[in-house]
Formats: sequence, structure tokens, C-alpha cells
Amino acid sequence: MTGEGSGRPRLGGERIPPPEWFRRQATVSDPDVYDAFESEWPDCWRRAGDLLSWDDDPETVFRGGETPPFEWFPDGRLNASYNCVDRHLDERKNQRALVWEGPLGDSRSYTYLELHREVNEFAAALRDLGVGEDDVVTLYLPMVPELPVAMLACARLGAIHNVVFAGFSADALAERMARADSAYLVTCDGYYRRGDAIAQKNKADNARLALDHDVEVVVLDHLGQGVHLGPGYHDYGDLVADHAGAEVDPVARDAADSLFRIYTSGTTGEPRGVTHTTGGYLAHVAWTARSVLDIRPEDTHWCSADIGWITGHSYIVYGPLALGTTTVLYGGTADHPEKDRLWKLVDRHAVDVFYTAPTAIRAFMKWGKEHPARHDLSSLRLLGTVGEPIDEPTWRWYREHIGGGECPVVDTWWQTETGAILVSTLPGVDPMKPGSAGRPLPGIGAAVVDAGGEPVDPGESGELVLTRPWPGMPRALANGTGWGARDGRRTAADADSSDSVAPSESPDAGPWRYHPEDGAVADAEGYLTFLGRIDEAVNVAGRRFSTMELESTIVGVEGVAEAAVVGADDESTGTAIYAYVAPERDAPEADLRQRIRDAVEDAIGAVAIPAAVVFTPDLPKTRSGKVMRRLLRAVANDEDLGDTSALRNPEILGELRSRTHDK
Ligand code: WTA
Repeated sequence: MTGEGSGRPRLGGERIPPPEWFRRQATVSDPDVYDAFESEWPDCWRRAGDLLSWDDDPETVFRGGETPPFEWFPDGRLNASYNCVDRHLDERKNQRALVWEGPLGDSRSYTYLELHREVNEFAAALRDLGVGEDDVVTLYLPMVPELPVAMLACARLGAIHNVVFAGFSADALAERMARADSAYLVTCDGYYRRGDAIAQKNKADNARLALDHDVEVVVLDHLGQGVHLGPGYHDYGDLVADHAGAEVDPVARDAADSLFRIYTSGTTGEPRGVTHTTGGYLAHVAWTARSVLDIRPEDTHWCSADIGWITGHSYIVYGPLALGTTTVLYGGTADHPEKDRLWKLVDRHAVDVFYTAPTAIRAFMKWGKEHPARHDLSSLRLLGTVGEPIDEPTWRWYREHIGGGECPVVDTWWQTETGAILVSTLPGVDPMKPGSAGRPLPGIGAAVVDAGGEPVDPGESGELVLTRPWPGMPRALANGTGWGARDGRRTAADADSSDSVAPSESPDAGPWRYHPEDGAVADAEGYLTFLGRIDEAVNVAGRRFSTMELESTIVGVEGVAEAAVVGADDESTGTAIYAYVAPERDAPEADLRQRIRDAVEDAIGAVAIPAAVVFTPDLPKTRSGKVMRRLLRAVANDEDLGDTSALRNPEILGELRSRTHDK
């Protein structure tokens, strides 16, 4: 099996024990935690549930057998907004909950008391617009404080938020709203990115026009230039002013009730809706924020992801706030106005824990160590990475130049569907191995298997499977809606197809398994090195896109006959999108390339525009007419092509190679 993006694993490398100073103060430092979780499973997860405040304490931690339904904390009731805000008021109402730094040097912060007021007022406003339990409220906002406020306001009402990444296009927004049957939208006038103003409301207006149901729209006047509001539109500031001082009782939810919906990309060309639960999810993110990221209430935690992706949901908003810490929200980019911007902010806010993606670190390396060196980064205690494999040199640079050679680094593996971290070292317990993420966390069941589902030996690469349920699992996996796919991989149809989480389990016989669709190899100690996606998704700069979705967009462009999209290794973004396009005869190429880029920008967003569009008279195909993406990937990476005997048109490969590399 070959994985995308990461090259050969290096096993048996250096083993770096947790620094003694770190171990002494770590939230988890007892190595027995692994055995304890093992012998007490599933009740071991009570430790996670105990981090939360419940309206009805769960007597039962887990109910379920070998197959779904799986129920976490089945008799527990709680409210996520209460857990992230209200319960901290007694001890730290004047501590900062949120620190926001905008793109233009503007900044704002909210204490827990102030956050409580904002969340209540906006919850009251939403309630008066008609939002009730289980209504889906779409949030289409950039990194502004009102985004977590709106998430928590929804949670307070028992409404389900559906955050759509602000960089997505009108079409992508409309599709996600239609699938989620969402009749409420919160957006803003616009925002700045690298000095350019982005007209967010225009995109929201276009999405609204494309929907065939009514939508109430709340518009935040973020730029403060006044917004034109037609019927069905409401001004965020006015709504909040009208509800000044209002308080809304947090609605007690069953642990399995939905907290939010988020769309990700999977094997199919369609966005995959993932719905996370209130109890299991919150317990799992709180537990991992504490045990893996080592967050405690007096810390300032900075996860540099965007809230539009799962990482921001779990480790900017829910994990840190559930633990009562100070969480940093950064609305700008790492190199604007200068390449030392992040380090200036670490220094200014005395950040304790910093969590970012390997792509970002590779950019920092390219820019040079002098940028972090100009700032005092000694407040940092722990560094984390997520989103893609981190190679050893990048890991070492991060530890040396950001972590002062002293901070532990955790390489955390998880995905939208898992809700929270599942594989990492525990920084106060486990030695670090640069280039390897670590073992499955205590209580997590995982194995590396071959194509037949049999476990492979240490050192052999295979596919990672999860063999036991976990508290942060999404609803569709827990209630078995993903169960039953004959080949174990296809998205199972479901009453609410947008709520189906697909690659779920093995063929109907055999034990329950979830397939995250990642290649991996374990070493003798069980440390996992990840080898990249094995499905048709590509991770670009830690963001996941579906090649199928890209292909269907590109094929929709006039003049395109066929297209195949692959992920090519890329030094800075991990993977880059390469589109191989066979134009219809006589289609003008120059114009076509631009129209393809525009179409992708319209359908998905600028973030998904291919790094290369390579025109070819034909795609490499098998005799049965199937496009061999494996060969395109090899061409894009300038690798050995391996066996090409299945090809109908082998002569095309030389041509493809020169066109790819003569660009
Ligand atoms: C990849 C982001 C290697 C993996 C939280 C996974 C990783 C996909 C790591 C999920 C890591 C995430 N090492 N690969 N530490 N973390 N991935 O849903 O392929 O946006 O399946 O969630 O990112 O991407 P998603």
C-alpha cells in the first residue's frame, strides 16, 4: 500500500523521554494510565465525563455490545454552553476566556463574565428569531470573536451549529445549508485577509438565492461601514442591543443529542456531514485537551487553526473553554504584516501551549529562524501539531526554534469523524519519537491491517482501523447509520444522507471496525507513523479536500472532456492538488486553465485551486476504461511507475511526464 504525501517511514529513530521538569507538572504523568484504561474499559472513560458538569450525572458510562448502537453516558444530561462558560464564573469570572487578535493589529478580549453576557444576549436574540432545539444554524464567519459566541449561543439553546469555513464559496455554502436543512445563517459584511477586503455578505446573499427554503440571516457589521439589510436580514449589533442583559437558561441535552454538524470531504464527491454529540464529544475533547495538550485553567492556549475546520471546534473553542482556560483566536495570517507575527503574539500573550499544522512549520522554516529568535518565547511549555504527517527535520526545527529545545512536542492524529485526538504521545508519560505520532491514547483500540483486514507485523505498512468505539465518535457511527456497507467503505445511505459517516466497518461478518482511510505503520512499541490518505481525499496544508468533488467541478467546465485530480507531494503544503485535464478538441487552453481555476474557486473556494493544471490529450486508462490515478500520482511525484501492463494507452505516460515537469 502506498500512502500519499509522506515518503518512507523512518522507524527506530531517536527516543526522547519527557523532560523531567515537564513530567513533574504534567496533568497526566502516571504510566499506569494505559493499563488502568485497559482494565477498566469502558468505565475508564468516566475520567473524561468527570471533567464536565452534568444536569443529570451519568450513572452509566457506556452501553453497547460488539456492534452499534453504542451509547456514551446514556443517562447523562448536560449543556455545552454551561460547561464552557457559566460553570467557570465562580472561580474565574474576571479571567480572560477569549483573546482575539485581528488581521490589522486590532484586538479584543473577553473575560468569562463578558463571554457569559455575549453568549446569553445572542442566544436570546436567536431564540426570538425562532431558533429552538435541534434547529440547524449555519455560521459563515471568519475568525472573529462572534463566531465562538454564536456557537455557544446555539449550544445554549440546544440548537445545532453548522460552521462553514469563511473561505468557501457561495455554492459550497448553499450546498451545506441545503443538506443540513438550515433556515438560519449568521454571517458578516466582510473581513480583511492579507490586506484585501473580502465581501462575505455577497457570497451569503448568493447562497441564499440558491436555496429553495426561507432563511433568516443575521449580519455582523464587522468592518463597521454599515450594511444594507433587506427583508429577512437582521443586524447582529441591533439584535444584541435589543437583548442587552438578557439571560437564557441553558437547555439540558441528552449526552447523545447533537451539538454540531460539520462537513468534510470523503471518498465520494459530496460533502460528508458529520454530527457530533453533546456529552461524548465534549468529554473527549476536554479529556484530550487536558491529557495531551496539558491545558489547565491558568494557561493561555493558542491553536492556530481556523474554527471553520474541526481542529478549531475542538481545540480553540470546546476543549479549552470546557477546561476554563484562556483561548487565543487569531484572525490574521502568519506572515502579515511581518513574518514574525505569530511569535510577537506568543510573546505578548505569554502563550503556554501552541498547536499548529506541519505545513505552517515548514513555512516558518523557509522564512528563517531569525523571526522567532527576535521574540521571547519562554512562556511556551508544550507544542503540538495536527493535520498531516510531520517529518523529522520539521519536528526538530519546531522543537528547537519555537520550543527552545525544551518543550515536548505532541504529534496528534485524529480527524473530523473522530472529533478529538486518538493517537499521540502523552507528553508527561511517553517518550517522543520525531516523525512518529505515538501510540493510540489510553482506551483507544486501533490496529494496522492489510487489505484482507488481517493485522500486519510491526514495520509493515497497512491501513489503520479503529477497533473499539470512543466517546467522541459521531452520531452516525454510534447509532449504526454507517453500518452495513457491503464493502465496508462506501458511504452508507441513511435516512438523512447528509448525516452519514461513511467508511465504517468491515463486511457484515466480523468485528466492528471504523476505517479512517489512513495508511500507517507501527514500530515494535506500537508507535504509529502515518503515511497519508488511502482514499480519494487529499490533505492540502492540513485541510481535507475530495478529489472527486474537484473532478466533478472541473468536468463541468465547458471545453473539458475529462479530468483526474491527484495529490502530489509538496514541500510546503504536504500535498498539492494536480489536475490532469483532457480538453475537448479545439478548446483554447490558456483560457481554459483560467476557467478551471475560477470554477474551483466558485464551487469550493480559493483554497482548493489546483497548484497545477496539466492538459493532456488523454488520461491513462485501463482496458476497461478506468483512469489509473496511481500512475498520475507517480507522474506528478516523478516516481517510478511500477507495473503499467493494465494500461490501454501506455504511450501517454511519457507525454504526461514531460507536460507535468516542463510547466
Ligand atoms: C490527516 C483534522 C498524520 C489524516 C484534525 C486524517 C494526520 C486527516 C494527522 C483528517 C497526524 C491528521 N499525522 N496525518 N498527526 N492528523 N492527519 O478531518 O489523513 O481535516 O485522516 O481532521 O488528516 O483531516 P481532518
